[in-house]
Amino acid sequence: MTRTPVNVTVTGAAGQIGYALLFRIASGHLLGPDVPVRLRLLEIPQAVKAAEGTAMELDDCAFPLLSGIDITDDAKTAFDGVNIALLVGARPRTKGMERGDLLEANGGIFKPQGEAINAGAADDVRVLVVGNPANTNALIAQQHAPDVPAERFTAMTRLDHNRALSQLAKKLGVTVSDIKKLTIWGNHSATQYPDLFHAEVNGQVAAQAVNDQDWLENTFIPTVAKRGAAIIEARGASSAASAANAAIDHVYSWVNGTPEGDWTSAAVVSDGSYGVPEGLISSFPVVAKDGRYEIVQGLEIDDFSRARIDASVAELVEERDAVKALGLI
Ligand code: NAD
Ligand code: LMR
Repeated sequence: MTRTPVNVTVTGAAGQIGYALLFRIASGHLLGPDVPVRLRLLEIPQAVKAAEGTAMELDDCAFPLLSGIDITDDAKTAFDGVNIALLVGARPRTKGMERGDLLEANGGIFKPQGEAINAGAADDVRVLVVGNPANTNALIAQQHAPDVPAERFTAMTRLDHNRALSQLAKKLGVTVSDIKKLTIWGNHSATQYPDLFHAEVNGQVAAQAVNDQDWLENTFIPTVAKRGAAIIEARGASSAASAANAAIDHVYSWVNGTPEGDWTSAAVVSDGSYGVPEGLISSFPVVAKDGRYEIVQGLEIDDFSRARIDASVAELVEERDAVKALGLI
């Protein structure tokens, strides 16, 4: 039976994450090996030519699942009928730019994109924001898409989750598959909190398996939280292939579900769980079931974790208030 292709829109398609992402989407890693996709690439006018070059290369791969590629610099066209929207393109912070300037510049991108999603997306649209500041960009887009259920807007903390898995696996000399129930809480920023108190390693609480509070506090948490900056320092450019890989993981889990007995991390709209103000897009432990991400409920949060979750959530509140003051939401 021939399936109808899923419309996948990628913004910032000519950027470095775009280059690492598009080929994996087209080869079936985003949705599964039997799901045809139609790609829509959104770029700014100056980068359309580069996106066309990437599209030529996609053609040259002869991917059986790739049913077509459209390239545009118009958000309305890009999101018309979209099922999966990967919002990667964003305005990076440049020299002399204050945080407020960055939020404002990104508001100018994510507001019209939210409006275009509201106007034209398919009923089942799912949105993943990768472009930084990802949580707040997702909030801006979501606030301008009142006809789309809020839960369809998410931001990416799966890269942080994967980073934490690898760091812990190395420390304990286990494989990443031995680790379950790890959580990234809060913002995709240096305030994020990677939580080992609910994670399990071969059935044992990870923090106990580590049994080294100094490592947990002074090595593990900062290494994970500052990994993005460390990659920039080492590579001279921000993470690209690992970010693309995490975007693939995020959407694949969302659509196909998380394994029984495990969860993952994603920034989703808060319903007030764990004291996170309702409406903020904050990272939580989540399971995916029936095509929906749901926040894992009922975890006990001790004082150590509470303080760290609160600090990251406070930063998200500040970002939300800043974009509110700028009239962006
Ligand atoms: P990049 O600069 O290589 O590419 C960004 C692309 O976006 C450029 O081609 C640019 O032309 C395009 N763009 C800018 N404004 C646009 C708009 N309005 N519409 C469509 N396209 C637009 O950057 P990159 O390395 O691909 O990173 C993209 C974003 O992802 C950055 O904001 C980066 O900080 C972020 N990032 C997030 C994570 C995460 O874990 N959430 C990880 C890595 C990078
Ligand atoms: C990352 O976590 O690698 C990125 O968000 C870093 C960045 O600032 O682009």
